[in-house]
Amino acid sequence: MARRLGPAPEPGQLDEGERLDRRELAALQLARLQQTLRHAYEHVPHYRHSFDAAGVSPEDCRTLADLARFPFTGKADLRDAYPFGMLAVPMSEVRRVHASSGTTGRPTVVGYTERDLSVWADLVARSIRAAGGRAGHKVHISYGYGLFTGGLGAHYGAERLGCTVIPASGGMTARQVQLIRDLQPEIIMVTPSYMLTLLDEFERQGIDPRSTSLRVGIFGAEPWTEEMRREIEERLDIDAVDIYGLSEVMGPGVASECVETKDGLHLWEDHFYPEVVDPVTDEVQPEGAHGELVLTTLTKEALPVIRYRTRDLTRLLPGTARTFRRMEKVTGRCDDMVVLRGVNVFPSQIEEIVLRTPGVAPHFQLHLTREGRLDRMTVRAEARPGTGPEQRAAAAVAIARGVKDGVGVTVEVAVVEPESLERSVGKIRRVVDARSS
Ligand code: DLL
Repeated sequence: MARRLGPAPEPGQLDEGERLDRRELAALQLARLQQTLRHAYEHVPHYRHSFDAAGVSPEDCRTLADLARFPFTGKADLRDAYPFGMLAVPMSEVRRVHASSGTTGRPTVVGYTERDLSVWADLVARSIRAAGGRAGHKVHISYGYGLFTGGLGAHYGAERLGCTVIPASGGMTARQVQLIRDLQPEIIMVTPSYMLTLLDEFERQGIDPRSTSLRVGIFGAEPWTEEMRREIEERLDIDAVDIYGLSEVMGPGVASECVETKDGLHLWEDHFYPEVVDPVTDEVQPEGAHGELVLTTLTKEALPVIRYRTRDLTRLLPGTARTFRRMEKVTGRCDDMVVLRGVNVFPSQIEEIVLRTPGVAPHFQLHLTREGRLDRMTVRAEARPGTGPEQRAAAAVAIARGVKDGVGVTVEVAVVEPESLERSVGKIRRVVDARSS
């Protein structure tokens, strides 16, 4: 049984935004949306041109549903405006920039005013509180510090809540383990894949991870499955909750899970307006239908984004622990999807299967190769230490069968030596694509 940090917050501990009912929230959203559309149109040439080209103006937004008439924004729009062309305020008002690395070419640069940074800290504080954190807790942060939003985003949110921050950043795994043992944090914030690296390091040092002071982990920045949640919760004896965000919209803390329900991430709708669209037809989907998450900021000053195509696949669900709607755990990104002989395959589907299979560790990679015109995928999964040849062979068969039955595609499986696959120190790379074209 995982050790809870405490009960859900009392109603009095919720912040003003969390106490709104749906009607009050909708009114606030509309007012903020209208203001954001005006702000973007008046101060960002890109939005002026794209609204004009679509024949809409901020005055056309009279209801929340009217947002669907406005054009989408994509990562390419931010890249084209590199570095500062999407800013809606003078540079002198920008207090900080972050950037996402991007796999090709230019990074995407984002900026924040003082008020943006303050709202961000409030929303991360809200997220940590939803996870069970309270003033006085120690928070070990292993998200990378720097241009990535994870480290500093988590940092200022934890301070805002009144926690004591241990700014470990990523890397130096052996030292992280020592810090956790010696400084006794209750909370850890890290990518789930780096948490697995830390867990292995605890075991390598002969320390039972269940014996540490940690009681809650707040994991995000990459997709992870319910199977991964179970693995981490059992090995560490903690509650594991999900936190979501992206630099273009803010950073961590756009949505977060409540520890009392762990049933998807409440989207902080007083600051972000979510839509889910069909990634192919662009049609807005009804609540409950799967598709690509599209986000509009409602309070951002420096970098308002209108209908930003996140590429993240999820669906919207009614609120439970909070009035805000939830987004289901992200199953993957449109661009992570591998099309293998006509079948769509997501790394998260393989993760579920690998983590269910006895004898293999939760470390795996997908290798894509092309022979002639045929694409092939090899699932490389690591054997758990002490697993013999027969068990490894059985695991390979079980994974291949699981993928065939569950995903509908034939893959090769190689169960490789323990500790032989690349380890994560931040966001994990699941797919190695060795196809030449
Ligand atoms: O990853 C912000 C973040 C930091 C979120 C720390 C949570 C914790 P970017 O580097 O801009 O920002 O990457 C954003 O990461 O579009 C998703 O594809 C993915 N992602 C982020 N959180 C989750 C999550 C940060 N909880 C991209 N589940 C997003 C699945 C996630 N994917």
